[in-house]
This record gives sequence, structure tokens and C-alpha cells, in this order.
Amino acid sequence: MNGDSKKARRNLQRARAITGSDDARSVYAQWAASYDRDVFSTLKVTGTDTIADLLCEHTADIDSARILDAGCGTGAVAARLKAHGFGLIDGVDLSPEMLSIAKAKQLYRTLIEADLNQPLDLPQSPYTAIVSAGTFTTGHVGAEGFYNLFAHLEGDGLMACVIANPVWQHDQFDALIDNMPVDVVINRIEATIPDGEPDAHMLVLRRN
Ligand SMILES: C[S@@+](CC[C@H](N)C(=O)[O-])C[C@H]1O[C@@H](n2cnc3c(N)ncnc32)[C@H](O)[C@@H]1O
Repeated sequence: MNGDSKKARRNLQRARAITGSDDARSVYAQWAASYDRDVFSTLKVTGTDTIADLLCEHTADIDSARILDAGCGTGAVAARLKAHGFGLIDGVDLSPEMLSIAKAKQLYRTLIEADLNQPLDLPQSPYTAIVSAGTFTTGHVGAEGFYNLFAHLEGDGLMACVIANPVWQHDQFDALIDNMPVDVVINRIEATIPDGEPDAHMLVLRRN
């Protein structure tokens, strides 16, 4: 393993050990500048592209879609969605440093600094789809945040999220989904790092 790889893995491990919103702010403030290189060039994390591709596959009208990217970070989900032809994407994240990198890429209509664990004020709500990668992860955002976001989805809208296994189990997502007004379009577990163990659910729900 070379130095870049070791550093990237250390940063990923530090993020996976986050213990709440204040810790997340501090970890991502330090990680923002090297996040894209570590996560996508070095570690080749796949969950971000996969969930964007799944959302695209199940969106009937890409031209009119209005997307909210929850925990948008540096904008990797939006970059993939734009490549698929999506035009209108808003992003929300709690890290000003991550948002500042996303802003420079000019991918989003609006970027909002907010904590997904708190009630959300989203002026452009409701959305035709909500997408999220890497944010339903230990110490980041769990079932309550998921439920808060769902309130910002219009009827028939799609929710496409990567949910890490420990969060899925701890927050009992099976039961949560059973009790929500949704059809499950996709729910499969897969590895989000090449040659890694299956570690996250790729979840696509349609509001009914
Ligand atoms: C692993 S990164 C994923 C970023 C991007 N979605 C991607 O796929 O590259 C997780 C993101 O979630 C954000 N985050 C963590 N906890 C949050 C919270 N409580 N509310 C909003 N964003 C949060 C972090 O600031 C970070 O940008």
C-alpha cells in the first residue's frame, strides 16, 4: 500500500468513526481539500456513482426532475447526475468546507448549509427525487434524518440512498420502510469499495 493509499484509508476510517454532527463538521473541515482525490481517485469508492445511476434508471422524465442531494459533500453525486442529463439539483450538507468545493464546480442551483439530523427548512421543497451517498453512515445521519427528508418528497417521488449496513441494522430500516407509504423499487446490499465486503444497502423507494 503506498502513502496516498494509507492516508486515504486513514481519512475514511476517521470518517467512519464520526460520533455526531459537531465531530462531522470538524472531520470534514480537515478532509475537504483531499476528499475527491482520496475517495474517488485513490480508494475508488463506487456507491456514489451507483446510486446516481440507479436514480437515473428509474426516473421517467429527467428533463423536469428536481433533485435534492442530501449530504452532497463536494458534489460527486451531482457530477454523475449532470452527466446523465439532470439539470436541476439542490444540495444540502453541514460542512461549509465541503460545500465550498461543491460550489466551485457550479453543479447545483442552490446549496444549503444544514444538519440533516435537525428539522429542515428547504425553500424549494418538495422534490421529485432525493438522493444521498455516503451520508447514512455511522455517526452521520440515521433513520430520523431519513424520515425528515422524506417529508420533502412529492407524491410519486423517488428516494435513492446508500445506507451503510451498521446504520441499517441499528436504526431498523426494514421496519421503518415497512411503515412508510412507499414501494420498494430496489433494496440490495453491495460493496462500495472494490474487493470490499458488502457494506451498504442501495435503496430506491417510490412514494405511494
Ligand atoms: C462521505 S461524505 C459523502 C459526500 C457525497 N455525497 C459523496 O458521495 O461523495 C458525507 C457527507 O455528509 C455530510 N454530513 C455528515 N453528517 C451530516 C449531517 N448531520 N447533516 C448534513 N450533512 C452531513 C458531510 O459533511 C459529508 O459531506
